[in-house]
Amino acid sequence: MTKTFFDEAAADYDAWYETEVGKVADQVERVLVQRMFQPKGSRVLEVGCGTGQHTVWLVQEGYDVTAVDVSTEMMARARTKIAQLGGRVQWWQADIEDILDQLGRFNGIFSMTTFEFVPQPERILAKLYEELEPGGCLLIGMIAGESPWGEYYQEVAKENPTYYRYKFYKTSFLLQ
Ligand SMILES: C[S@@+](CC[C@H](N)C(=O)[O-])C[C@H]1O[C@@H](n2cnc3c(N)ncnc32)[C@H](O)[C@@H]1O
Repeated sequence: MTKTFFDEAAADYDAWYETEVGKVADQVERVLVQRMFQPKGSRVLEVGCGTGQHTVWLVQEGYDVTAVDVSTEMMARARTKIAQLGGRVQWWQADIEDILDQLGRFNGIFSMTTFEFVPQPERILAKLYEELEPGGCLLIGMIAGESPWGEYYQEVAKENPTYYRYKFYKTSFLLQ
């Protein structure tokens, strides 16, 4: 289900980053992740790379990136961006739930607005944490339920539950 949804959404998703609000959101996210994501080592796993918006940054920072995504169409766009950069990424088109036992070890694990879509986020998070090398860095970015974005998506989901499948977590839950 998730695969079909994101395959269909890929073109619109990428186009959103070119809108005024998309550019601002991208810049804010970029500044925040640059400050917070500083693994001591080069091996990085990105879960839910999407169209590569953050993959590009990770490659530019010099990380050795393994990028996972369930959607062929989203990942195809990410591949194109990285090819245009002349960069290299190990691409892994799969549902993260299906490959938890095959991941290997990483210095950093990065995931932006993807855990909202996985059915058992706690189970995946626990497993990813186990795969971190000592001193590793894990960054999971999510839309908080009570944030303006979270409230907006919840409103839209009432009208269109098929398209807006986000799960919403309160900030207090995310911080636990
Ligand atoms: C909202 S997009 C975020 C993409 C990117 N991280 C970004 O910030 O632009 C969510 C991505 O997670 C992927 N995804 C959702 N569920 C997944 C799963 N179970 N395993 C792997 N990828 C998944 C989708 O295909 C989609 O590309």
